[in-house]
Amino acid sequence: MSIVETYIRRHPRSQALFDQAQTLFPSGVTHDGRYVTPFPIYVERCTGARKWDADGNELIDYWMGHGALLLGHGHPSIVAAVQQQMKRGTHYGAEHELSLQWAHLIKRLFTSIEQVRFTASGTEATMMALRLARAYTGKPIIIRFAGHYHGWHDMLARDTDILPVGLLDGLARSTIVVPTDLTYVEDVLRKRSDVAAVILEPTGASYGAVPLPTGFLRDLRQLTWKYGVLLICDEIVTGFRIAPGGAQQREGVVADLTTLAKVMAGGLPGGAVGGRADILKHLAFGDAEWNQKCKIRHFGTFNAAPLSAAAGIAMLEIVADGAPCAYAANLGETLVAGMNAEIRKRRLVGWAAYGDGSIIHLVAGCSTGFAPGELDPRTPTDELKRGGDPRLVHLVCLGMINHGVDLMRGRSGFLSAAHTSADVAATIAAFAATLDAIGEHHAQLQSSASWQR
Ligand SMILES: Cc1ncc(COP(=O)(O)O)c(C=O)c1O
Repeated sequence: MSIVETYIRRHPRSQALFDQAQTLFPSGVTHDGRYVTPFPIYVERCTGARKWDADGNELIDYWMGHGALLLGHGHPSIVAAVQQQMKRGTHYGAEHELSLQWAHLIKRLFTSIEQVRFTASGTEATMMALRLARAYTGKPIIIRFAGHYHGWHDMLARDTDILPVGLLDGLARSTIVVPTDLTYVEDVLRKRSDVAAVILEPTGASYGAVPLPTGFLRDLRQLTWKYGVLLICDEIVTGFRIAPGGAQQREGVVADLTTLAKVMAGGLPGGAVGGRADILKHLAFGDAEWNQKCKIRHFGTFNAAPLSAAAGIAMLEIVADGAPCAYAANLGETLVAGMNAEIRKRRLVGWAAYGDGSIIHLVAGCSTGFAPGELDPRTPTDELKRGGDPRLVHLVCLGMINHGVDLMRGRSGFLSAAHTSADVAATIAAFAATLDAIGEHHAQLQSSASWQR
């Protein structure tokens, strides 16, 4: 039976729910990243590193709340903090002390952050960071890197030369999309005096699926200082995960502005922009003239929402000593090594597992045809972002689910402090079985996809 047939047979309830969902949601999904053919699985409950779907199948989870759940599902301290807070109220319509504790923890871990403004999501945080950069510098242009993702809003929607549908041309032209090439960036900065800031994912596009050259972040920091341009580190995924103080701590870099979400909010909705107090001053009230000309108006019903604050505090208190990051990173490295061993055993050219600590990626059948398990960083950005040959990625995605593992879109995964060595071993076994199933049942892909060349 093919991988797709097995998947359909194992998930009748998910299929029935998806049939209904198609009448309710465009393409039947609530998030583009969860769209998968023939249908996505529907999940009913999660605990630790596990999730159970609507058909009762148990899965090792590598989505981990899109990267938010560094401590796994339902960590007892976070659950207790949220339950306590539920009893006290979910929204005060007022300032509250938890927001102060939350901000203190963030400041303690991120040395670049002097002041914080909470938002309801990561997307809102990057919107705010851009507004702040423009308000502070009085300049309109933002440099961003091709393929780096910073949320779905209009200001950063364009990440290639193509104008996304529905986007105003002027807005699209307010960003310059550049390759991750510092000579190129310097050339732009030398020629233009209207650049407010450079924003990036500090470990590379899609949380490191397209790794940055060594030292890139540090060199970019020097360059932005040289040209008097602000540096915005989007640490929405990397913050509190790569290290308690994010990629900035690991690389010894101090950004002007940092955007945060995911781990920061303990698995509940929430985000923040933090950074230099003289920049965040543009959110503060002043005299009438300042308020009219210099202040950014900012509201948001769920800014610093008490439930998110309670969860975020519980999370950051545990994450602060770096132990969960180190533990999950260690497991990530074991997983990558194990997957590459399976790739090498089968001599899969253009396939590799790689990653950065607790974040792992897989590419399958890349056109650059590198040696099994030896990622060639010259593989085009688009290809790395989509995981290589989409047909193979699709089969890996469904095949892994058939074998009890839910990789993110078949090509990435977040390890957590709740995963164990046994989970990693089971994942490697599932990967081996999936590769065998692809080899056995999908012979038509073998010649086209560098299979056992
Ligand atoms: C680097 C990065 N920035 C921003 C965002 C947007 O965050 P949110 O989904 O909370 O709006 C994401 C989401 O995945 C992200 O990965």
